[in-house]
Amino acid sequence: MQIFIDSGDIDEIREAMSWGVVDGVTTNPSLVRAASLKRGIVDLKEYLSEICNVAGRGRPVSLEVMGTNCEQMVKEAKIIYDKFNTVAKNVVVKIPVTTKGIEEDEFEGIKAIRQLDSRGIPVNATLIMTPMQAMLAAKAGAKYVSPFLGRIDDYVRQKSGINFKKEDYFDTTTLRRNANDDALNFNEGILSGIELLLRIRKSFANYNIKAKVIAASIRNTRQAEESMEAGAEIITAPYEVIKNMTLHTKSEEGIKLFVEDAKKAKYSELFS
Ligand code: G3P
Repeated sequence: MQIFIDSGDIDEIREAMSWGVVDGVTTNPSLVRAASLKRGIVDLKEYLSEICNVAGRGRPVSLEVMGTNCEQMVKEAKIIYDKFNTVAKNVVVKIPVTTKGIEEDEFEGIKAIRQLDSRGIPVNATLIMTPMQAMLAAKAGAKYVSPFLGRIDDYVRQKSGINFKKEDYFDTTTLRRNANDDALNFNEGILSGIELLLRIRKSFANYNIKAKVIAASIRNTRQAEESMEAGAEIITAPYEVIKNMTLHTKSEEGIKLFVEDAKKAKYSELFS
């Protein structure tokens, strides 16, 4: 299983790469905007080049287009790829799976994925909220599909009138136990991001689909753990969530005790 950092912040990305267990980077316009506001980025081209460089060869960096029709997306994807892939040969272009609500034709993203695949440009299909979207993106040639687990949890909780904070773990089991049939079916029976992930994984296995699934929009370590258990090939998570992956109060307590006992046992003599 691979772990990507979902961030547009170069310091976070650099630090995460230094841990030696982070295998790639995903960005999106919102993350780049947040970094831009925080850091006052002046030269975006230079900044994104540096992100590609810090990630380094063999660690994919997803960079998103801003256009919404096929022609624009393909044009921008080629520009992004030509500009940044020279840095460390690690660029993947992020394309939204649907353009419904903006363009007349909701298939603009799918068409763009097909064209980019035929040009050899790797695509990460983003904003995946259903197994069918994931399948269409994979059929069109996406190398990665990114179901947004946290946003599905948000949607289900909002529809169910559940109050929550963004980082809260979502207990679907209790919801299933208490919900009536209408509530159980409003989102095609998918009541959490993890359920979405499981259904995509099962559908891909049925047809031996090669696209890799990136569990995205991860909000807490428990959701990351459940994604791992559900077989996500990749989990992309914010810096703080990855940091929290090493933590447990008993580990903390244990290391303090070992350090104290090592002193008492005169362990230092072993190393002199
Ligand atoms: O990788 C997708 C991610 O950036 C979206 O996360 O927390 O805004 O839903 P979030």
